[in-house]
Amino acid sequence: MTFPTAMRIADVAGGHGELAYWLQELGHVPVVIEPRDVRLPRWIQRDLRKRSVRERRLTTIDRIARPVQEVDLSPFDLVVALHPDEATEPAVRAAVRHNLDFAVVPCCVFAEDGAKYTSQAWLDYLASIAPRVSTSHLSISGANTVLWRRRCSPSQASAAN
Ligand SMILES: C[S@@+](CC[C@H](N)C(=O)[O-])C[C@H]1O[C@@H](n2cnc3c(N)ncnc32)[C@H](O)[C@@H]1O
Repeated sequence: MTFPTAMRIADVAGGHGELAYWLQELGHVPVVIEPRDVRLPRWIQRDLRKRSVRERRLTTIDRIARPVQEVDLSPFDLVVALHPDEATEPAVRAAVRHNLDFAVVPCCVFAEDGAKYTSQAWLDYLASIAPRVSTSHLSISGANTVLWRRRCSPSQASAAN
């Protein structure tokens, strides 16, 4: 695992919270940042109902029902975003601005300035706003390139400023 020590994780554009559920199962504390009023998928709700009251309390996933542009991401250890649509560029920019670890899997092109890109050019553009970013591929269906970066050390951060 790339970010084993991350405790508080912002799951930007987290949709129904499936990714957050799995992150929590791994012992992290995810918060879903998602403006739509969506609930955990039924199969997860059923799974949670089978648990004891104490376990259920531990598996409560917090949500912030606002667009990521309106959320302060600085308290988080890690920003993740799976197919985050309009939230893609703001999530990457906020992670860079606050010097946070991040792992973002872009899908559709939603550049903030409305520019059109091919899929590869979109990845290149996002990489250009996050120096030192790495690229890996996940074994999932659909768009599966993950752009990820560990926060800069204090000396790297001051050299970048
Ligand atoms: C393709 S869905 C992906 C949902 C989830 N991450 C998944 O993989 O199942 C894109 C999500 O981005 C959310 N979204 C769009 N703009 C957003 C924004 N500005 N801030 C946060 N989430 C946003 C949408 O509401 C939608 O749920």
